[in-house]
Amino acid sequence: MLSSEAVELHLRGRFGKPYLYEPECESTQQLLVDSGLPEGAVAATDHQTGGRGRLGRTWEEPAGSSVLVSVLLHPPAERRLPELSLVAALAVAETVELAVVLAAQVKWPNDVMLNRRKVAGILSELSDGTVVVGIGINVNQTRDQLPLGAPTEPASLRTATGTTYDRAVLLGSLLMRLERMYDVWLDAGLDGIYGGLGARDFLRGRRITADGEPATAVQILRDGRLEIETDSGEVKALESGEVLFAR
Ligand code: BTN
Repeated sequence: MLSSEAVELHLRGRFGKPYLYEPECESTQQLLVDSGLPEGAVAATDHQTGGRGRLGRTWEEPAGSSVLVSVLLHPPAERRLPELSLVAALAVAETVELAVVLAAQVKWPNDVMLNRRKVAGILSELSDGTVVVGIGINVNQTRDQLPLGAPTEPASLRTATGTTYDRAVLLGSLLMRLERMYDVWLDAGLDGIYGGLGARDFLRGRRITADGEPATAVQILRDGRLEIETDSGEVKALESGEVLFAR
């Protein structure tokens, strides 16, 4: 369970203060939006009945299988918010790597990949100067419990390794790492974490389709945009959107 009792003993920083837990809720995002809570407030659940993904999609999981968490942040207004999804994605990738002892990658702009499959997604929502960063990690689902028909083929830590994982330990480790990475980003911007990010850039050099156009991904740039070269030879930087890759 991701109850306060299970998770709080793994928390030593300011993220997770307060720590809101519901055994089941519609979406952890809703527990923090317009809550007036301080930066670092966290909401977690063992099951969402209306989990939200990016681009209007749903995020579904069997109860008790996943890490489902939202974190409230108050970043300075002038900062580029899409960068925050990359900060969170890198924190998730490092957390996953430490747990499964396999290399994880960040698929721009907001997915975490293991063995070329998506194990986690991030949804950052801005409202009134606060950002709610929602993170879903597929942890203990079996293959047949993963969603069908997702644009990027899904996996869980369990399907990737054959082992089950303690979700509370994972969440504690994620929140510590996210806090450290967020602080680096506040101080130094994306440059401060670019070493880790560039080394885990899943799309680099891959054949992709960006908004329907065939292209090759060049790299995640230091400002968080994705540089691509279209098949007609145009080099451009994408701000956001969805990129599909050829498996
Ligand atoms: C995506 O890949 O499209 C983003 C998925 C984000 C899912 C997480 S689970 C916790 C939080 N609550 C939600 O409703 N969504 C995010």
